[in-house]
Amino acid sequence: MSDAALFDKIISHCKEYGFVFPSSDIYGGLAAVYDYGQNGAPLRNNLRQYWWQSMTQLHANIVGIDAAIFMHPKTWKASGHVDGFNDPMIDNKDSKKRYRADVLIEDHQEKIRQKIEKEIDKAAKRFGETFDADMYRSTNPRVMAYQAQIDHCDAVLKEGLETGNLGMIKELIESEGIVCPISGSKNWTEVRQFNLMYSTQMSAVESGEDQLYLRPETAQGIFVNFLNVQKTGRMKLPFGIAQTGKAFRNEIVARQFIMRMKEFEQMEMQFFCQPGTEMQWYNYWKELRLKWHMAMGIPASSYRYHDHVKLAHYANAAVDIEFDFPFGFKEVEGIHSRTDFDLGRHEEFSGKKLRYFDPEKNESYVPYVVETSIGLDRLFLLTLCNAYCEEEIDGDTRVVLKLHPALAPVKAAILPLVKKDELPELAEEIYQKLRLDFPCYIEDKDSIGKRYRRMDAIGTPFCITVDHDSLNDRSVTLRYRDSMKQERVSIDSLHSLLSQATAMSSLLKELI
Ligand code: GAP
Repeated sequence: MSDAALFDKIISHCKEYGFVFPSSDIYGGLAAVYDYGQNGAPLRNNLRQYWWQSMTQLHANIVGIDAAIFMHPKTWKASGHVDGFNDPMIDNKDSKKRYRADVLIEDHQEKIRQKIEKEIDKAAKRFGETFDADMYRSTNPRVMAYQAQIDHCDAVLKEGLETGNLGMIKELIESEGIVCPISGSKNWTEVRQFNLMYSTQMSAVESGEDQLYLRPETAQGIFVNFLNVQKTGRMKLPFGIAQTGKAFRNEIVARQFIMRMKEFEQMEMQFFCQPGTEMQWYNYWKELRLKWHMAMGIPASSYRYHDHVKLAHYANAAVDIEFDFPFGFKEVEGIHSRTDFDLGRHEEFSGKKLRYFDPEKNESYVPYVVETSIGLDRLFLLTLCNAYCEEEIDGDTRVVLKLHPALAPVKAAILPLVKKDELPELAEEIYQKLRLDFPCYIEDKDSIGKRYRRMDAIGTPFCITVDHDSLNDRSVTLRYRDSMKQERVSIDSLHSLLSQATAMSSLLKELI
């Protein structure tokens, strides 16, 4: 199966099994906005919980807060978002479609890259076993010309964005002959900067004074609360503040399902430390965050680090953790050493001192910050992409989500073998007991095989089948999702069995 076909299957699976629906589906959906369904919402909650507990329970010096989405307008001036949180936009006058100019160029570069790969494939077939692809890349005139074209696009785009010379970017689009994918024309407007923040008004009456923004990142809610938390929590450096919550960005290019959304959730932690120690903490968090991902049972080969070559003006180090999605390696999390930029700017704009009195040094200073920032929705997508499996069994295809039991939306399904002979009553008794501690499901419709398959498809790690013997010996058949192995266990042992396998601690203990 091609990667594109696999990704399409995952998207359909999400809708068919109640994980993710397009927002306002009955009205035709809303671009880049999604709703989580009856299985998606609990899976997402479990992922959030795993992150939250790993931050606030496993670190005595990290506390969690929940700041409001609306913030004082000056926040976004201070953070630099009002002036600098922009994407370069271009419209096609014929199709009236709007595009991100950098994405148009990147897509164009991708097409050239594909031409290079075709040339190399052709040559490999021609030359056979002795073929050296690297050598061919660096010597074949046609491939070299394609590569030079890609590099030229990179250089012009970079210079145009860095210097604010958007005219250069438009000229590049024209000189490269980039056409609108809808109209096929080259009838482009000028390139303009477009701010990604959504704005609204505090009061019913519109005035420039009370313009608010929907936060584009949760981090600023932490910075403005730095002193509140430090003082009331008597926090000593180094310490962290964690938060999860919604963020909003007017992303023009909605792509790859829930990968890039207009309304999404972030899980961010700002770690405040003494200036000069930030690289030590940056390396600590870089390593620990990857370990956190892998504790979910995801192989190391699915991840890679991508160090930022060009740093934001406030950062002195930054790295992305990328996951190998069906559409290639893409960022899921960023670790940024943000220096004292944010607190310093908020000092300047608020007129309030945002300093830490260091009793050992007997001086006050603005702490440095190392941030870890992960998108919950991207994490959700990553989890599904990793878990989705199709297996051939006796000429039939079984679709199974191999989710870690601590993350699975339903922990156990209780299934009476038949809908009679008091089996449903015993199943109900087991269900009533287990549901106090575990999200469980009970069902007596259809054949047992069909019910197993439905549970496999939503990632339920255990199926508990109640049969006629159960009435006599108070034991049941426990079926394991991944191996499909079945064993006989007593009803009394079910609770402790589920406890051990599905507790969040089974994930957390990997981190200590
Ligand atoms: N406070 C730092 C910050 O916001 P970012 O790289 O812009 O940094 C952090 O965002 C993470 O948030 C990303 O790694 C990604 O997982 C997630 N994210 C960002 N924009 C997103 C979007 N439009 N849709 C879904 N997730 C997004």
